[in-house]
Amino acid sequence: MATLVTGGAGYIGSHMVRRLRRAGRDVVVVDDLSSGHREAIAAGTPLVVADVADKSAMREVMARYAVDSIIHFAAKIQVGESVVNPRLYWHGNVVATTNLLDCALDAGVRAFILSSTAAVYGTPGVVPIPESEPTLPINPYGHSKLTIETMLASYAHAYGLRYAALRYFNAAGCEDEPGLGERHEPETHLIPLVLDAALGRRPHITVFGRDYATPDGTCIRDYIHVGDLADAHLAALEHLEGGGASGAFNLGTGVGHSVAEVIDVCRAVTGRDIRTVDGARREGDPPSLVASPKLAEERFGWRATRSSLERIVADAWAAHQRHHGIDQTASSASRQKEQAANAR
Ligand code: UFG
Repeated sequence: MATLVTGGAGYIGSHMVRRLRRAGRDVVVVDDLSSGHREAIAAGTPLVVADVADKSAMREVMARYAVDSIIHFAAKIQVGESVVNPRLYWHGNVVATTNLLDCALDAGVRAFILSSTAAVYGTPGVVPIPESEPTLPINPYGHSKLTIETMLASYAHAYGLRYAALRYFNAAGCEDEPGLGERHEPETHLIPLVLDAALGRRPHITVFGRDYATPDGTCIRDYIHVGDLADAHLAALEHLEGGGASGAFNLGTGVGHSVAEVIDVCRAVTGRDIRTVDGARREGDPPSLVASPKLAEERFGWRATRSSLERIVADAWAAHQRHHGIDQTASSASRQKEQAANAR
């Protein structure tokens, strides 16, 4: 029996593959390598290069590897792109997952884990956000993930499929292994962009709005270490396999940090000067998104253990330097990293 990881060559998926392998599980990866990196996949893990929408390829993989659980990362993930080109999101997320689930049901898959998102909440009325908060997405990306959650709930009811829709807040950081790291193209996420500015690969970081109703005027987000996310998926999978109830679960820390705070921590960890430029608000950015992570702890005993902002930035910085071929042992930045990690 094996766990199929779709998008296993991507940023979060590649961490998950290693976590599953360390837990002694058989894993097969499906990735079309449109945004993933072959070298990120743990050595010795079978990779099938295919689109998850391709039913004949998925049927073959599920039969050949005796797949009994699926962790589904492969998706289109850019909020802005979803607004200007929504068909990519209805096809790449909703149609592709519908096809994948058809194959999964026919193959008798017992447990399905979806990469969902805080974007399902839109602009929440309550922060920290419990799962009971109304889901009112404000962009096609959020709608596409919520539609898949709805589909899963109906399949659980009708066909007995067990599922967990894991609503990530802001995934960040990296584990200390070659090949891993956050490398989106184009990159739109705050921490890798700030670290690029620290390396001098960008002249500055633009702060999207300083006039929000938050203590320092910049947006607040709940940053969660990718290693904590991997732990959560494994705990959710074991929960489902043990007969636990299906549902949607927030994955966050319960603590928010502003954009200005993130940049300050990046300055402290890297020891570099990071220039900022004040820009306009980015369309569709809610002022504050912070999870209430209580339900995941109650249901499958998970909570974040390595998601201090200092640890996240230090780990992301180490990976960023590694990726750009910088010898960390020689750099003062590594000393800064150690200091930051020790200070936790
Ligand atoms: N930001 C800047 N400058 C930049 C990039 C980002 O100020 O150059 C700000 C954003 O405005 C936001 C914060 O940094 O306030 C974080 O932005 P990210 O793009 O890193 O992350 P988001 O919170 O926009 O997006 C994350 C996930 C999405 C998910 C969304 C839910 O990456 O997949 O949360 O709203 F949809």
